[in-house]
Amino acid sequence: MASDDAFKVSSLKGKVALITGASSGIGAGTSVLFAKLGALLALNGRDVDNLKQVAKRCTDGGAAEPLLVPGDLTDEDTVRKTVEQTVAHFGRLDVLINSAGILAMGSIETTDLAQYDRIMNINVRTVYHLTQLCVPHLIKTKGSIVNVSSVNGQRAFPGVLAYCMSKSAIDQFTRCTALELAPKQVRVNSVCPGVIVTEVHKRAGLDEAQYAQFLAKSKQTHALGRPGEVDEVAQSIAFLASDAASFITGVNLPIDGGRHAMCPR
Ligand SMILES: NC(=O)c1ccc[n+]([C@@H]2O[C@H](COP(=O)([O-])OP(=O)(O)OC[C@H]3O[C@@H](n4cnc5c(N)ncnc54)[C@H](OP(=O)(O)O)[C@@H]3O)[C@@H](O)[C@H]2O)c1
Repeated sequence: MASDDAFKVSSLKGKVALITGASSGIGAGTSVLFAKLGALLALNGRDVDNLKQVAKRCTDGGAAEPLLVPGDLTDEDTVRKTVEQTVAHFGRLDVLINSAGILAMGSIETTDLAQYDRIMNINVRTVYHLTQLCVPHLIKTKGSIVNVSSVNGQRAFPGVLAYCMSKSAIDQFTRCTALELAPKQVRVNSVCPGVIVTEVHKRAGLDEAQYAQFLAKSKQTHALGRPGEVDEVAQSIAFLASDAASFITGVNLPIDGGRHAMCPR
């Protein structure tokens, strides 16, 4: 057996993967790793320039040119077109990675319904819609789905209420759809990252100084003593999406340096 084949994550070679959030952070890192593993990629994000840069990082490593399917996933037509264009281009779909999402600060006293809707729309409703449209294609290929949830879905943190609720919904979505699709041999899992260095916190309103402070504090809030890197999440996504995880479904896997296991004392 060639060493490339010894670890079954190499089964991603030649698989068609649709990755959302591919223009930044975890989705971008996952796209580059999947390209290295020989997957054929359809990439969604809103920022077309960033999406093109990620595509270049994929082809620079010798991968096939990814199909870019840009657009805002809160628009239902965009979701439909994303799936239609992917399947029209590649003829099938093997893997769906739901990484697009936003974070916003706010408590029960300060999160108005507009912010609640904005978070639930992209973090939950579009995941539901996109997955629903991909499922018939994934059944044909006995494919797999990996959702990007968060430690915030498993543990309670004050001041990010709607975000925590949205990720709990994704955890339950993962378990329920895993059971619904298991008879059809489609696997569904989530990764649940702790603090990972991306754009998401600054986009949620932290300035550079606050972000530096937040990352410094992450040394205490994560048992392994540091925040995580994008590639550490991407590696686990690749594992769960591939045949290396062929007997794993319905799992919400913490990628959080032990944060989910911690309790203050
Ligand atoms: N970083 C962390 O510490 C952390 C921890 C736990 C979970 N997560 C989860 O990881 C996922 C990825 O986040 P990240 O950290 O990689 O953040 P990021 O760097 O801000 O990337 C977010 C991605 O989501 C896309 N996106 C947001 N709204 C969208 C919309 N309406 N339509 C289409 N795409 C949209 C963005 O596209 P554009 O940039 O093109 O607009 C971008 O590609 C999220 O679900 C997040 O909740 C992150």
